[in-house]
Amino acid sequence: MSWENAVNIDDLRRLAKQRLPRVAWDYLERGAEDDLTLQSNRRRLDRLQFLPRTLVDVSKRTLQHRLFGKTYDAPFGIGPTGVAGLYCFEADLELARAASAANIPFTLSTASFIAMERVVKEVSGEQWFQLYMSKDRDAAECLVRRAEQAGFGALVITTDVPVGGNREYNRRNGFEIPFRLNSRNIIDGICHPRWLSEVFLRTLLSTGVPRFQNVDSNVGGRIIAQDLSAFRARRDALDWSDIAWLRTIWPRPLMVKGILTAEDALLAIEHGVDAIVVSNHGGRQLDGAIAAIDALPTIATAVAGRVPVLFDSGIRRGMDVVKALAMGADFVLLGRATLYGATVGGAAGVKHAIEILKAETDRVMALIGCASAAELDQRFIVKESSV
Ligand SMILES: Cc1cc2nc3c(=O)[nH]c(=O)nc-3n(C[C@H](O)[C@H](O)[C@H](O)COP(=O)(O)O)c2cc1C
Repeated sequence: MSWENAVNIDDLRRLAKQRLPRVAWDYLERGAEDDLTLQSNRRRLDRLQFLPRTLVDVSKRTLQHRLFGKTYDAPFGIGPTGVAGLYCFEADLELARAASAANIPFTLSTASFIAMERVVKEVSGEQWFQLYMSKDRDAAECLVRRAEQAGFGALVITTDVPVGGNREYNRRNGFEIPFRLNSRNIIDGICHPRWLSEVFLRTLLSTGVPRFQNVDSNVGGRIIAQDLSAFRARRDALDWSDIAWLRTIWPRPLMVKGILTAEDALLAIEHGVDAIVVSNHGGRQLDGAIAAIDALPTIATAVAGRVPVLFDSGIRRGMDVVKALAMGADFVLLGRATLYGATVGGAAGVKHAIEILKAETDRVMALIGCASAAELDQRFIVKESSV
């Protein structure tokens, strides 16, 4: 099957798996340790059942959705995914182009091979920058200023990575940054000639060995970091005072990504954030963490509309988008779903993934008798005790 004929995200997933060598596929698809949280993200979304209303006029239904004063054409956007250049040539630009064409926001990861300035310059539309920061405020401030000058519309600070998740497959596969070739990876690459020529060799020929482009921090002429080390350094020492500090230097919407408890959501608001992202990093960090969808309702109730609540982790169908919105999210972010599209077809593949999700979301809204995402709430979902 060619990706143009993919009818759902799972079709794109299977095609992406065929395209990629093992090392890249595992990095995209797997979680951490035993993949318990990765699996429960899906299982717990699947367990939710709809209570559809009937004979509701949904002929004027819309997917348009407002966030931070902007209107998007879907209640979801693209979340940050680092190392995306492993899946398709200049993947972040392709993801950003597709998001822009679809009028949804795109989030660039700190761990990107594309300089943040290029993304804003070459692609129009709403873009957010995701920050990995350490306790080194000089380095962080430099990046934040870069993001502000470049024109990013919001900053997303990811807080669920005090240390890296235990991704044993990376060790088994010899996945390292900066990349080093070993015999296994070379054989695997040769067995995936399309990826080898269209992604790996093309990247090598155009920019050399891929390098993180958003970690150089030139502070007063002193280069603080040229790899992720300064951003990993003492990341485990971050605390809420760092969020309060970020708030003083970042003038646009500030989001904290990686919230799983009501207590932390309230602390985030207390420290001045404009939105929180309920997320367990797609199961890639703490294995055994609560499924993100299970954490969502309590958090949404505690936040009580004071700031928007965004949600990610496990979204593969429009149905999942609707469930997340009904359980209290104001907006949804995509991770792997759009990466599958990028892997198989660049921006056109991402566009296809977005269109699939939009069509599914629209159909589910009609079938449950709800004309707009803003009207979704828990009345549309069967209470757990009755399942
Ligand atoms: C390959 C990959 C790379 C990721 N890199 C980042 C990152 O650099 N920063 C970040 O905050 N989250 C990162 N994430 C997590 C996503 O932003 C998001 O939380 C997660 O993918 C959502 O789960 P889903 O893929 O099941 O939708 C990454 C996820 C994947 C799959």
